[in-house]
Amino acid sequence: MNLLHPASWHDYELLDSGNFEKLERFGKYILIRPEPQAIWERALPDQEWKRLAHAHFSREQNDKFRFTDDVKGGWKKLKEIPESWQVTYQYNQLNLTFRLALTGFGHVGIFPEQGENWNFIYDTVQRWKLNKPRVLNLFAYTGAASVVAKSAGADVTHVDASRPGLNWANQNMVLNNQDNIRWVYEDAFKFVKREVKRGNKYNGIIMDPPPYGRGPEGEKWTLQEQLNELVKFSRELLVDKQSFFILSMYAVGLSATVGRNVVLSHFTPSETEFGEFYLHSKQGKDLPMGTFVRFRNF
Ligand SMILES: C[S@@+](CC[C@H](N)C(=O)[O-])C[C@H]1O[C@@H](n2cnc3c(N)ncnc32)[C@H](O)[C@@H]1O
Repeated sequence: MNLLHPASWHDYELLDSGNFEKLERFGKYILIRPEPQAIWERALPDQEWKRLAHAHFSREQNDKFRFTDDVKGGWKKLKEIPESWQVTYQYNQLNLTFRLALTGFGHVGIFPEQGENWNFIYDTVQRWKLNKPRVLNLFAYTGAASVVAKSAGADVTHVDASRPGLNWANQNMVLNNQDNIRWVYEDAFKFVKREVKRGNKYNGIIMDPPPYGRGPEGEKWTLQEQLNELVKFSRELLVDKQSFFILSMYAVGLSATVGRNVVLSHFTPSETEFGEFYLHSKQGKDLPMGTFVRFRNF
């Protein structure tokens, strides 16, 4: 079991957490957002949180303990903050820019803990030295992992069921002077089954499934009911050598061992890494941010 945190960030920082909220810096802007797991005391006084923050997303009161990422609530601006802004991410030769904005769900367009997976994707694809390895990103949201894989030289297929999400991902591609990411607006499970039928193969598969979701035609996604089958079908898509697989899970409360058991039901990699991501805070407490299972074959 590994406890990993994204150590390459300069433009992101967890400043503090506690009393069901977290205080974070994204580039020049500091935000207060809900955090149902932060049941402990804050390191910094409440006045300091208010003094620092540019915007505060508060949950509806009866939603306080709900262990999910998509919450009801709203943003209150405490200082000047633009509609959207950018942050950069550097790791070895990787030098990326992402667009951020305050969304209605309290998201801002990236999940900073995923930086750990971005480094893994970049290192793996770079090391293969293949001509255009194929990477499939499922539930791909605003496309940070797609842009990382593209930077490393991969041919990327990005699947998501949200039009605004795809549009945002396209903006991230353009911001990084890239082109030709293949955008697929489809239910992730349906797409995977279709790819199996078509006999297509990939060198890398990334999946970050939400606990619940809907495909464009209302297809229902429930992680606990469908993840095992999705991973089973994905097995058919992944080549044996020079390949990688990443499963991340957040906001479900399932142990990393659950993800590992699912993945090892269908794959027999020589080495598997699994565990928990967390965000490190200099003055506050470290914050757990979901689990991962991943492997690579050289
Ligand atoms: C919050 S995200 C994953 C985060 C992302 N991997 C990242 O780190 O930036 C979950 C995504 O799954 C998408 N989604 C939900 N249900 C889906 C479905 N049935 N098929 C495809 N995508 C779906 C949502 O539109 C959303 O973009």
